[in-house]
Amino acid sequence: MTTLLRIDASARKTRSLTRALGDRFIACWLAVEPAANVVFRDVGTAPPPIVTEDWIAAVFCDADKRTAEQSALLRTSDALIDELARADIIVMATPMYNYGMPAALKAWVDQVVRIGKTFTFDLARGDRPLEPIMDGKTLVMLTSSGEFGFGAGGPNAGSNHLTPHIETVSKYLGVETVRHIGIEYQEFGDDRFAASKAAAEAAVPDLVAALASRKRLRRPETSLD
Ligand SMILES: Cc1cc2nc3c(=O)[nH]c(=O)nc-3n(C[C@H](O)[C@H](O)[C@H](O)COP(=O)(O)O)c2cc1C
Repeated sequence: MTTLLRIDASARKTRSLTRALGDRFIACWLAVEPAANVVFRDVGTAPPPIVTEDWIAAVFCDADKRTAEQSALLRTSDALIDELARADIIVMATPMYNYGMPAALKAWVDQVVRIGKTFTFDLARGDRPLEPIMDGKTLVMLTSSGEFGFGAGGPNAGSNHLTPHIETVSKYLGVETVRHIGIEYQEFGDDRFAASKAAAEAAVPDLVAALASRKRLRRPETSLD
């Protein structure tokens, strides 16, 4: 059985394009695999706390030496990491805010990318001392932006600090495969927006079919699990 972790980062509860893409992705997946397990983590409306000096001290303290207060400080991080660990596919529905990810999503990243939990650090590895602990996950980024041309070679590619940033940190989420569907031109509200939205909507079932069949091929012993 596939476990999907759906993360929503839009601050908008209504009229959100990324939430609509997320709904579509989950509906398509459940049509293919009705028994799939879907975990919802809405950071857009309930952002995780940002990290503090006390939080960092608790992380770097040996687990058996932590005070009750330090353990309590890490409870959200522990829970979010447990959710991540169980996920086969991370469905990350996120807008572009100020050319990057919303602060709420960055807060989630900072809570889950944690030494000893999602990565190890060893200077014996030389200039690349960090190594992820988890592996084998697929990340689906469902994005929306008001402007356009953020893809490779596009006029605003250099201003895209959303998908490249997520891809960079995704290594420490145990991600090995990344897929992206995005809507652009939202602020223009013109034909280009309508076409971009329609293309993204059409791409979702195709992506679901491709990921589901790849999963079947990889693990032929059962139907989809
Ligand atoms: C606070 C904020 C910042 C934004 N910053 C950008 C930006 O830097 N570039 C851009 O193209 N669009 C930007 N937008 C537009 C959003 O990316 C766009 O409205 C998107 O559809 C929002 O996602 P949602 O529909 O899921 O809420 C911004 C919107 C908001 C509310």
